[in-house]
Amino acid sequence: MTLQERCPILHFGDLGDERGKLVVIEGGQAIPFEIKRVFYIYDSDATVVRGQHANRESEFVLINVAGKSKVRITDGKEEFVAVLDRPMMGIYIPKMVWKDMYDFSPDSVLLVLASTHYDGGEYIRDYDTYLQEMGIK
Ligand code: TYD
Repeated sequence: MTLQERCPILHFGDLGDERGKLVVIEGGQAIPFEIKRVFYIYDSDATVVRGQHANRESEFVLINVAGKSKVRITDGKEEFVAVLDRPMMGIYIPKMVWKDMYDFSPDSVLLVLASTHYDGGEYIRDYDTYLQEMGIK
């Protein structure tokens, strides 16, 4: 499987009507894990790079519920960039994938759904350590 196949873009159903849009995401259904944690990032801008880590245990889904941002994803061998610019789409990020989020629009609200409670110890924040754990270096 390619890296891009392992990190699919997800398209969520729109239950909107004349009153407005409504997007529902249920753990284990629209996304492949039960949701244990939700956080969101806003007030970042085009000069900021966030993320810059891999997670040994956590899986994520990233959704720009407003505005847009980009996420660069690599496994140390392959790399691709996904543009998150629609509230009805997200990207699934499995364990042990390195990610950088950047190019935030001023109105960007990046919603993140996670499969775990927060544990700083499961983050790899050093790229050389990541490559070593991936058996690349
Ligand atoms: P960080 O991982 O640097 O954020 P990002 O992945 O968006 O670049 O997190 C910033 C700070 O917030 C850091 O001190 C850890 C803390 N934090 C939590 O306590 N719980 C969480 O769920 C997250 C994502 C971060």
